[in-house]
Amino acid sequence: MRPIIPDYLTDALADVESDVSGELAAYIPELAGADPDRLGAVFATLDGTIYGAGDIDHEFTIQSISKPFTYALALADRGFHPVLDKVGVEPSGEAFNQISLERGSGRPLNPMINAGAITAHSLAGPPGLDPAGRVERVIDGLSAFAGRRLAIDEAVCASEMRHAHRNLAIAHMLRSYDILTEDPTAVVEGYVRQCSVLVTVRDLAVMAATLANGGVNPLSGEQVVHRPVVRQVLSVMATCGMYDAAGDWATHVGIPAKSGVAGGLIGALPGQIGIATFSPRLDAHGNSVRGVSLFEQFSSDAGLHVM
Ligand code: DON
Repeated sequence: MRPIIPDYLTDALADVESDVSGELAAYIPELAGADPDRLGAVFATLDGTIYGAGDIDHEFTIQSISKPFTYALALADRGFHPVLDKVGVEPSGEAFNQISLERGSGRPLNPMINAGAITAHSLAGPPGLDPAGRVERVIDGLSAFAGRRLAIDEAVCASEMRHAHRNLAIAHMLRSYDILTEDPTAVVEGYVRQCSVLVTVRDLAVMAATLANGGVNPLSGEQVVHRPVVRQVLSVMATCGMYDAAGDWATHVGIPAKSGVAGGLIGALPGQIGIATFSPRLDAHGNSVRGVSLFEQFSSDAGLHVM
């Protein structure tokens, strides 16, 4: 008997394959050289079963999909109050690279936009950790979510860092409000390394499944973070994960999610499944065009909308 889900996934990919709308992320020159036609999707169930179709073993950089996981590490390492003092949980309604700081305090509105993610990066690991140690903590943590050792794409990292003027400007603003308390350039360098971690769509589905599974990686059995942290992270993904398209996503798809500018997209359904897609062309919000279509299809076909 042929497995049903791979056939379903193959058909779903075929349905979106002809859509070549959207653009590669040109503001990171190395990403503009990616093969725009790559396409893959994976379902990871909570018993550790992986169903996939398309380019499931192709590596690409995690980019903003690292943000919910690093936020989880910051919450786990520092506790809720110290993190909430520095990063809010309100949707910004603005693009991911807008400054979006709370008036007065200078606190970034949420940890999914760059301002909040740069701050969350600075809060990973114990207080006083040096920038290199912090990057190590973040790579170790992302690897635990994926269930395998992850590496950095140095070419993408260098390319982004050479053009990181916007993130550097945001970090300097954060420093001026004492939201960051150290050298802004060193924090941005660490954050860019975090974004340059290489993953496959399969890794991303396992990372999402770890969130769906209350913080326990379904492959390794490791409790990566505790349940209250997962609840916080999934709540922020639900409200802020798709940036200024979060409302459209909540109504059409209804799954806590996060996108990345290399073309990855994850969704985590608590108690059910982790889903990931990969297709590099992006819409105006920086979300994968075919990834969004696939999730709309999955949500409607399988009744996955949580609301
Ligand atoms: O900081 C940046 O701009 C990139 N490293 C990540 C942005 C990103 O992935 C936005 N999401 N779709």
